[in-house]
Amino acid sequence: MEKKQLDWANIGFGYMPTDARYVSNFKDGAWDDGVITADANVTLNECACVFQYAQTCFEGLKAYTTEDGHIVCFRPDLNASRMADSARRLEMPVFPEDKFVDAVCQVVKANQAWVPPYGSGATLYIRPYMMGTNAVIGVKPASEYQFRMFVTPVGPYFKGGAKPLTITVSDFDRAAPHGTGHIKAGLNYAMSLHASITAHSNGFDENMFLDPQSRTKVEETGGANFIFITKDGTFVTPKSDSILPSITRRSLMIVAEKYLDMKVEHREVYFDELKDFAECGLCGTAAVISPVGKINDHGKEICFPSGMNEMGPVIQKLYDTLTGIQMGHIEDKEGWVKTIC
Ligand code: PLP
Ligand code: COI
Repeated sequence: MEKKQLDWANIGFGYMPTDARYVSNFKDGAWDDGVITADANVTLNECACVFQYAQTCFEGLKAYTTEDGHIVCFRPDLNASRMADSARRLEMPVFPEDKFVDAVCQVVKANQAWVPPYGSGATLYIRPYMMGTNAVIGVKPASEYQFRMFVTPVGPYFKGGAKPLTITVSDFDRAAPHGTGHIKAGLNYAMSLHASITAHSNGFDENMFLDPQSRTKVEETGGANFIFITKDGTFVTPKSDSILPSITRRSLMIVAEKYLDMKVEHREVYFDELKDFAECGLCGTAAVISPVGKINDHGKEICFPSGMNEMGPVIQKLYDTLTGIQMGHIEDKEGWVKTIC
């Protein structure tokens, strides 16, 4: 298999069509067998439920080339079960979790030429998603659905790579209490677009959303969870029913505890505590771990001691350990890595 001739070290986080994608349709109460296809386009009726009432959810995970030349992915079973949770909350049929993992393997294998080489700094982003496809005009769930999965090679999510980010506290809410913040519904991301454009136009890299009820607790950004390191080296990460249960964050809690022997606290984090933390980062599949140097709260700055030039030392260790497990040069003690080929 010939690798594509891409400038792997300099690709951004964008979409490029690759050779193959997976498609499965749900009709008359059942999913079909699913196929790999070359067709990147979706043709739907103008009144499809996804267009009218945003009945869609998605996932995101990555495939990596390991040091010894295998192609692997990281905890795809958790993406499968989170997508099942999203589907249930949106009154969509669950795509079977074992078929989800099998589809990941099929799509990645069919696109091996697009998997960035080991050490290139790039990875293959995998985007599973599903939507209500039949015409619906009264507000109700669709009865027909399509599940798709495509891949695209990606570089760093944030333009500066590992340069610390400046975050602003948003005046907008991302998710309502008892709403859909805990699932990966497309509607949550539509809700965050105005906040995100506003933050960017004010010169900030990302938003920090606070809990909508009291606006005193840290939630997350539009696409990543927060992690903090206290001055005495404890790993702290917000707990809330309205944030997405990040697979990266759940893995980092275990990395911190079991690989790095750190104390871990998963709890409500009050905004007022931030000034006392030593390090801050964003974590997620796309973000990996991106360091945060500064948080701007309506003109009042919280500057983390780790500064604006590099990752803090503890976040660097977490980053090295997590990516080391993913790339195969640190022992995968938990059985997280699935070899595809
Ligand atoms: N929070 C939000 C809102 C996200 O969209 C994502 C990305 O999936 C994350 C957190 C990180 O989750 P994960 O680590 O599972 O990619
Ligand atoms: C991911 O990290 O996979 C995400 O879905 C975040 C994003 C690109 C919105």
